[in-house]
Amino acid sequence: MSFLDDLPLLPPDPLLAVARQAGQDNRAGKIDLTIGVYKDRSGQTPIFRSVKAAESYLVQNERTKSYISTDGVATFCSAITAFVLPTHQVACNRLATVQTIGGTGALSLAGRFLAENCPGQAVWIGTPTWSNHVAVMQQCGLPIQTYPRSLPGGGRNFTAMMDVLANKARRGDIILLQPVCHNPTGDDWNDAEWAEIVEQVVRAGLVPLVDMAYHGLGQTLDADLLRLHALMEKVEIALLCYSCSKNFGLYRERVGALLVGGQSRARPAALQSQLAAIARASYSMPPAHGAGVVGHILTTPALRAQWEDEVRDMQAHLHAVRQTLATHERIGPCNARAIARGQGMFCMLPLPPAIIMLLRNEHGLYMADNGRINLAALNENNLQRFVSLINQAWESAQARTAVAAGLPASS
Ligand SMILES: Cc1ncc(COP(=O)(O)O)c(C=O)c1O
Repeated sequence: MSFLDDLPLLPPDPLLAVARQAGQDNRAGKIDLTIGVYKDRSGQTPIFRSVKAAESYLVQNERTKSYISTDGVATFCSAITAFVLPTHQVACNRLATVQTIGGTGALSLAGRFLAENCPGQAVWIGTPTWSNHVAVMQQCGLPIQTYPRSLPGGGRNFTAMMDVLANKARRGDIILLQPVCHNPTGDDWNDAEWAEIVEQVVRAGLVPLVDMAYHGLGQTLDADLLRLHALMEKVEIALLCYSCSKNFGLYRERVGALLVGGQSRARPAALQSQLAAIARASYSMPPAHGAGVVGHILTTPALRAQWEDEVRDMQAHLHAVRQTLATHERIGPCNARAIARGQGMFCMLPLPPAIIMLLRNEHGLYMADNGRINLAALNENNLQRFVSLINQAWESAQARTAVAAGLPASS
C-alpha cells in the first residue's frame, strides 16, 4: 500500500477535453471554435514568415547550446522591455524583466512572488475569465476573491468592478486586469472606464497584475499598449504578464515575459534577484529558442516590419469576422452588433448548456462549455453555416419553451 493507491483521478481540463473531442470528430462540416489558437482565413495556424526567417538566422549563427541566465535570453529581455514599455512614451521606472515560460509562466512567477512578499493579500479576479487564471493563482498559494465582471445578460459589470476597487479589496490586495482583448468576452473596458479603474486602483493602494496575451490583435500594436501605459504612469507598481504565444504564433515554444514597473523607486536589482531566485528554484532557466526568435525579430528592422504586417493581418481577419457577423441581425441570443464592438479572438454566446451540447453532438459545432468561441476559426467557408446552426437551435429552443408555457409557438 503506498500513497499512490489513493491518488484520485482528476478530471481533464474541460476546455482541452472538448477540443480533444472536436479533434476526433471526422464529420465533414465540423466547426471547431474551442481552443484559443489563431487561425488564418484558410483555417490554418501557419508559422509566421518573420519567425521562419529568424529561425534560419539562429540556425546559421547560434554557436552554443550552453546554459543561459536564469533571467532568460538577454536580447529578448531588453527588446521586449523596450517594445512594451518604451521610455520615450512611458514615464515609469522599469524595475525588472524576466523571460518566462509563456504567459502562463509569467502569471505563475508573478503569483509566487506576490504570495511570498504580500502574505495574506487576496487576488481579485473578475469572472468569467481565462479558464486557467484561478488555478494558477491558487497553486501559487494566493487567496482568491472573485467578482462578476459580466452582467447576467452580457455586457460589462462596471458597477461590480468599482465596488471591488472602492469597497471590497483591502489595501495591498492584487487585482488581475486584462487591458485589451478580454478572454473570454472580447468586451474590454472602454477608455473612460479604464481611466476610472486606474484612478481607483491608485487610491485604494492595490497591486495590478496585468495579463496581456493578445497584444496587437485588438486595434494596433501601438494602440493596444495605451491602457497599459496609462496604468504604469500612475501606479506604484504593476506586474505585467506578457505572452508571445499568439502575436508571434510561438505557442509551443513557450515565450513570455514578466515585466515589473511603475512609479516606485524600489531597488530594481533587489526585485530582479527575487524573481530570478524563484525562477531558479522552479525551472532554473527558460528555453532559449523562441525567445531568441522574438529578440531577433524585434531588433532587426526588416524582420520587425514583416512581423508587424503579419500581426496587422491577424487583426484585420478578426475585425472582418466581427463585421461579417454584424451583418446578421442576431446570433442566437446575442445582438450581433455587440459582438462587432468587441476586440480580440473571443466572444461569448450565452447559450444554455443543452443547446451547446446539441450543436456539438448533432452538428459538429464545438465551442467551450461557457459559450466562448474563437472567432479566428470562422471564415468564408463556415461562417454562414455557423450562424444558421446557432439561430436554428436557438429558435427551436424558444419555440419549445413557448409550447411548454402554453403560448403560440411563434410568440
Ligand atoms: C488571457 C490569457 N492569459 C494568459 C494566457 C497564457 O498564454 P501562454 O500560452 O503564453 O501561456 C492565455 C492563453 O490562452 C490567455 O488567454
